[in-house]
Amino acid sequence: MRILMVGDVVGSGGRRTVKKILPKLRHDLALDFVVLQGENLAGGFGLTLETVYEMIEAGADIITTGNHVWDKRDIVRKLDDPSFPVLRPLNYPPMNPGRGASAEGPVGVVNLIGRVWVGEFDSPFAAIDDLLAGDWAKGKPIVVDLHAEATSEKVALGWHLDGRVSALVGTHTHVATADCRILPEGTAYVTDLGMVGGTESVIGMHVEEALDRFLTGVGRRFRPVENGPMRFNSVMIEVDDSTGNAVSIERVDRELEL
Ligand SMILES: [Fe+2]
Ligand SMILES: [Fe+2]
Repeated sequence: MRILMVGDVVGSGGRRTVKKILPKLRHDLALDFVVLQGENLAGGFGLTLETVYEMIEAGADIITTGNHVWDKRDIVRKLDDPSFPVLRPLNYPPMNPGRGASAEGPVGVVNLIGRVWVGEFDSPFAAIDDLLAGDWAKGKPIVVDLHAEATSEKVALGWHLDGRVSALVGTHTHVATADCRILPEGTAYVTDLGMVGGTESVIGMHVEEALDRFLTGVGRRFRPVENGPMRFNSVMIEVDDSTGNAVSIERVDRELEL
């Protein structure tokens, strides 16, 4: 089975880039399943129903999120609907709306959030241990998105899960890393998928606004870059259906001009 995992899609420029690239990739790479990180879909902050369905129509099967999941309120109630293809981190407080894992489709998908420089959540390590202790997603490949800032936390979870899931990928930094590998017991790993957003930006946002915050310490409103050179960052993981182990993981990165 071939699974594509797409990095944080930022704003309308990111969405337009996905619409131009993903349908063709889905065909050319004979992809079976696509997981897309959508926490920045709507104006860079959060998701709306419209932006979610736009991505599903472009070829995503399920959307993972992170710290920006609550930014746009209109999806919050939908998150409890098991047919709504959006996850929120599994290790958020249990009374939060939504769910952090889905095994309804051909792939088990888990969304976790890190704790180092992100926030005070339950342990992502303990949360996934609990989930995997039972028969959850038995017989299906399992892929995990750890939405986290610290590279060390992501590397550590990779070792912790090696041999128990088909793939662990990191998201949130919006900067793609070059460390795709298969760990010794068969789990595909990469520290960060990267993003789908403007190349001439600070992690998808206009340079001058982001730079100003560092230079002056005064917060300005960030706006996503919506045109010009755009990058599409993702990785493709091939899984041996009989064992659930990863056979390969490779970066699938593209650029275009909007
Ligand atoms: Fe993000
Ligand atoms: Fe994030």
